[in-house]
Amino acid sequence: MNKTILVTGGAGYIGSHTVVELIQADYKVVVVDNLYNSSIGAIQAISGIVGQKVIFYEADCADKKILHKIMTKHSPDAVIHFAGYKAVAESVVKPLLYYRNNLDSTISLLEVMREHNCTQLVFSSSATVYLDAKEVKYNEATTKTNRPFSPYGTTKLVQEYILEDTVHGEQFDNLSGLQVVSLRYFNPIGAHSSGDLGEDPNGIPNNLAPYITQVAVGRLEQLQIFGDNYNTPDGTCLRDYIHVVDLAKGHLSGLEYLFKQSGKFFDAINLGTGKPASVFDVLHSFVKAVGRKIPYKVVSRRDGDLPEFYADPSKAEAVLSFVTKLDLDKMTADSWNWQSKHPNGFN
Ligand code: NAD
Ligand code: WQD
Repeated sequence: MNKTILVTGGAGYIGSHTVVELIQADYKVVVVDNLYNSSIGAIQAISGIVGQKVIFYEADCADKKILHKIMTKHSPDAVIHFAGYKAVAESVVKPLLYYRNNLDSTISLLEVMREHNCTQLVFSSSATVYLDAKEVKYNEATTKTNRPFSPYGTTKLVQEYILEDTVHGEQFDNLSGLQVVSLRYFNPIGAHSSGDLGEDPNGIPNNLAPYITQVAVGRLEQLQIFGDNYNTPDGTCLRDYIHVVDLAKGHLSGLEYLFKQSGKFFDAINLGTGKPASVFDVLHSFVKAVGRKIPYKVVSRRDGDLPEFYADPSKAEAVLSFVTKLDLDKMTADSWNWQSKHPNGFN
């Protein structure tokens, strides 16, 4: 019998692409999303792509009563938990909003999963959990504590701690134990190849790719490049951009890995390409995709930006048999296809 997967945050950018891949792989999918940062248009777009109605509940996954009803009705075999707030800068201004939503939703979800004998979870984590304390003689002022740059990043690290502690605790022991795979994403960009599903951020985008496509489509005037004087080959920061469809497929590999586990199990795995690209690399690739110049100016560095980081993807290949297939030009071509077909996103 086909397994049923509950997908929280399934109307969002990464969740919606994952729902498409799950349905196309014959999973039965139930989506729960409160549409805080997404729209019903994403659910309609998924239905159009897969040719069937998507089971969707507009609900908050911190609402245990509703979650309980949904789990009673659908008895999911596993959960993929995307729901959460993700805007780094907003989290600095509104930390309580981020701690409340991201931590509450995960704790409530775990409690309801336990009530329903549902013991398998794939979690959306982030490269932001990596830290770099190098010294051994600890000093209060200079040694970094185990703390990411933003409240958002802290919620991701704390959610990993909550999950790992719950795996090792005893509250799931009467069941088979809890099994969790935490997937640490690098920088997802791109869109579904149909051009009907893509990233549709509320307000002015914080991230590079949607900012560039909104400039290219005429919604924004020009890209601001945050610094070209880093110690990198072209002076701009290097990141590991991963196509959202590759990333979505990584979740199916994550699920299959989870299904092989029993007892108490926690594992954290990077999902990235392992190939760094600079801001100028991304911009030039978009220029090829769009077929004309994209206006930009170089401005000062953005607070908190690291010059360079990218994934070691070897664990994903070893344990998930997962390797990315789509390159930067495909990412930018698909992002542009989506944005040019839908200049105003889902509206
Ligand atoms: P997104 O905002 O597009 O999707 C998240 C979805 O969760 C939205 O549809 C939102 O409405 C929903 N949501 C938020 N709180 C909820 C709640 N309490 N109950 C129900 N639904 C709720 O973001 P995304 O880019 O698709 O990211 C998905 C997950 O991956 C997030 O947890 C994010 O932190 C994580 N992540 C994203 C990136 C990235 O760059 N996009 C990188 C690393 C990790
Ligand atoms: C990429 C590069 C910017 C916008 C963020 C989160 C991280 C993860 C992914 C969730 C950087 C430059 C950007 C612009 C620019 N999300 N840039 N002009 O900062 O690597 O990662 O999203 O977990 O936690 O921090 O991604 O897309 O914002 O920036 O020059 O208008 O593009 O300086 O070098 P980032 P990004």
